[in-house]
Amino acid sequence: MEEKKSFLKQNIDFDSPNKNIVPITTSISSDGKLYVGGCSIEELVKKYDSPLYILDEITLRKSCRAYKKALEKYYPGESLPIYASKANSSIFMSNLVASEGLGLDAVSEGELLTALKGGVPNEKIVFHGNNKSDKEIEFAVRNNINVIVDNDYDLERLEEISNSSNRDLEIMIRFTPGIECHTHEYIRTGSFDSKFGFGIEYLNTLFQRISNTKHLKLNGLHAHIGSQIFELDPHKDLGEIMVSVILDAKKYGHYIKKLNVGGGLGIKYIEDDDPPSIDEWVRTISNSVLKACEKHNLDLPTLLCEPGRSIVSTAGITIYKVGAFKKIPGIRTYLSVDGGMSDNPRPITYQSSYSACLVSNPFNINSKNKFTIAGKHCESGDVLFKEIELANCKTGDLICVFGTGAYNNSMSSNYNRIPRPAALLVCDGEAEIIQKRESPLDLLKYDVLPDRFIKQN
Ligand code: LLP
Repeated sequence: MEEKKSFLKQNIDFDSPNKNIVPITTSISSDGKLYVGGCSIEELVKKYDSPLYILDEITLRKSCRAYKKALEKYYPGESLPIYASKANSSIFMSNLVASEGLGLDAVSEGELLTALKGGVPNEKIVFHGNNKSDKEIEFAVRNNINVIVDNDYDLERLEEISNSSNRDLEIMIRFTPGIECHTHEYIRTGSFDSKFGFGIEYLNTLFQRISNTKHLKLNGLHAHIGSQIFELDPHKDLGEIMVSVILDAKKYGHYIKKLNVGGGLGIKYIEDDDPPSIDEWVRTISNSVLKACEKHNLDLPTLLCEPGRSIVSTAGITIYKVGAFKKIPGIRTYLSVDGGMSDNPRPITYQSSYSACLVSNPFNINSKNKFTIAGKHCESGDVLFKEIELANCKTGDLICVFGTGAYNNSMSSNYNRIPRPAALLVCDGEAEIIQKRESPLDLLKYDVLPDRFIKQN
């Protein structure tokens, strides 16, 4: 039997899950079946059906701890990793990051409520957004959640709230540092042409404007330069730029106590990806802030960072069942699965690549056949893999896609009225539901037929 080199045979980095393609508890049983978190994937699908999102608890906790440990190791001042919940927001994820002592970043009332319900302490939550509603801002202020001011509109409303309640309000501001990084343009946010944050050239005016308010106290700076970044230099530059902005703010009487450097560390989706480890990323940013503070004789600010993808992506897998095949001689063979762009919109949105294997033949023994894996949605671009080798694949087989923990569930939709998959947590051979499977009937819940149409029929 021919056994091909497989990404499943790579050495696992246990300290930095983002450097692996697979969850760190992934194993293959003696009869060649895929296991994650000590659970047989085949058995899980028998019980919970497909498609199925699965999160590995050990990988999640390792990622959280890697950030905490590295910050403690490299940054002598206070620090806090803040989980960017847009990557995967749920009561479970909020609870898990809170139990690991992390904070949480939210960008909507929904994410805020999820965080609070999951037990994240209010003072460890930061609230972002380039177009917060009045209701959201008031909710955040009422609940003592740190608001990150993104623009003048935010500032005006916070000034109004602080004046009308006659109390001081601590705020942080987000600015665009003008750093270019090599990632997809949709997920690049730190360049000058970005909808997020104040332009760096506007900051002096802004500092003066905040000084003129009665109750707004500027205590922190935030910047986020993009996502799925493999280079370290942009974050080194960011640390230096942020410290220089602390000095500028000082001239206007603002004492910056907190620096939030955003997230952005990439993960390994495919064999060619080689992201830095969490340790290296934190070391780079910590050293950069430390050195710049030393140079300018500044007290060390509290260092905050906002990892999303590198906390949750590698912990997640998605399982699909193979249905129809369509062979176009001389061109390709389409293999269709029972999910697609509604549970994972990243390939169609960003042309993202993933790694996958057959659950019953993870090492791809005797692989000869190449397939295009298509989703089941009414859209030609609903293709999860343009070309992948899978041995002896047939209808009813299960396919495991790796690295789907981030920006899959959280960006999922009901396109074609397809219900969202269930999500499971696996650990030590046990599986628990963390999100119930939607049913087609659930999707009708918000439809309303006006009375006169009912009478007509
Ligand atoms: N902080 C802020 C303010 C952000 O906007 C983001 C991501 C993060 C932190 C977390 O970044 P991460 O560590 O996950 O790279 N949907 C895209 C990614 C969009 C990222 C949006 N902001 C994707 O699927 O690749």
